[in-house]
Amino acid sequence: MTSRPFPAGFLWGTASAAHQVEGDNRNSDWWEFEQKPGHIANGDTSAVACDHYHRYREDFALLREMNQNAHRLSIEWSRIEPSEGEFDARQIRHYRDVLADLREQGMKPMLTLHHFSSPIWFARKGGWRAKDSPQAFLPFVRKVVDELGDLVELWCTINEPCIYGANGWIVGEFPPGHHGDVAGMYRVTSNLHRAHELAYTAIKRRLPDSPVGLSHHKFLFMPASETRRDRLAARTAQLVLDRWPVGLGQMARVVEATCDFVGVAHYWAQYAALDPLRPREQFIRRFNVPDALLTEMGFSANPAWMRLVLNELKRLGKPIYITENGLATNDDAVRCEYLADILENVRLAIEDGVDVRGYFHWTNMDNFEWAKGYSVRFGLIEVDRKTLERKLKPSGRLYSRIAASNSLPEKNN
Ligand code: BGC
Repeated sequence: MTSRPFPAGFLWGTASAAHQVEGDNRNSDWWEFEQKPGHIANGDTSAVACDHYHRYREDFALLREMNQNAHRLSIEWSRIEPSEGEFDARQIRHYRDVLADLREQGMKPMLTLHHFSSPIWFARKGGWRAKDSPQAFLPFVRKVVDELGDLVELWCTINEPCIYGANGWIVGEFPPGHHGDVAGMYRVTSNLHRAHELAYTAIKRRLPDSPVGLSHHKFLFMPASETRRDRLAARTAQLVLDRWPVGLGQMARVVEATCDFVGVAHYWAQYAALDPLRPREQFIRRFNVPDALLTEMGFSANPAWMRLVLNELKRLGKPIYITENGLATNDDAVRCEYLADILENVRLAIEDGVDVRGYFHWTNMDNFEWAKGYSVRFGLIEVDRKTLERKLKPSGRLYSRIAASNSLPEKNN
């Protein structure tokens, strides 16, 4: 008997992205970006990554041993369509094997079609900033649906459009590495919005019963004080990250896109305060919440914020999947505590009446953390960088037990 169960059929999974784990992904804009000095911490490059491209069977077997019943992964566009309009049958075969193996090992695949990396040919044409980029994405989407659609359980069209736009065009941490290009960022998120809507329609036309959504990154901003100024600052900071252009002069919340479910990734939060001295940052000072856990990504985290995020989505009236959540730390004992607390908050949100159907922990194994390279680790499984040997961490064992019992362990007090 347990006192803290989850609903029957709850999905227990982990999330990953092709470029971060597969290795040798040479035809992607990310690969080119990494080769330029100064772009990635410690001069790292994704290189062989976790060699998941060749070791997926072994990796999925580990997930099966961890009692997982779902897994979120992405498919690499630059492998499927290495040059515009040309599809690689061998790579399609590869991903058929990957998805089939996942299913055989008892896991429902959630497939992401775009997780931050694009083919070089697409980047050369202007990438997601180019006017016809949504149309250029579509043949790939149709191909994947036709060739692999029977093996996919849940679809995630685009990963975190606002983070992608901000990191590539404002912060410069993602290709094309632009800084402060606000117009560019909005052009990109506008195109991602159209790409999502087109992909949604294309998938539903062929597979009307397949649930389709996207993953929205919910970086939470909270007012630094109860003053009107700071409440306004928090609301503004939130609006900037939560919305994309959906028509001439019109903005809408990403979570309100045409979707069968709401996908939400939540890791961090910061305080926001009005600051007249910051015209380039919308007059807002953003800073970490004192006393909260400081993650190795440099942002503050607190498991209780997950419940707030989920409750806020309740009024959308759709099933919710937590497409990502995890902790950047080299101290796995801290991860264990965080994981148990996060899941307790997910459970409490379900008790509050939020329809959460599954949780995908970021991530199964330590991998290539984009601009941070291999220095920052989120995995439940350790990967030896020299031998690539996988080793389950205590947090991985904890997650396995939770998934097996579909409940949280009894509290001691
Ligand atoms: C991304 C992942 C990334 C994770 C941790 C998410 O925004 O989707 O690719 O590794 O955050 O930074």
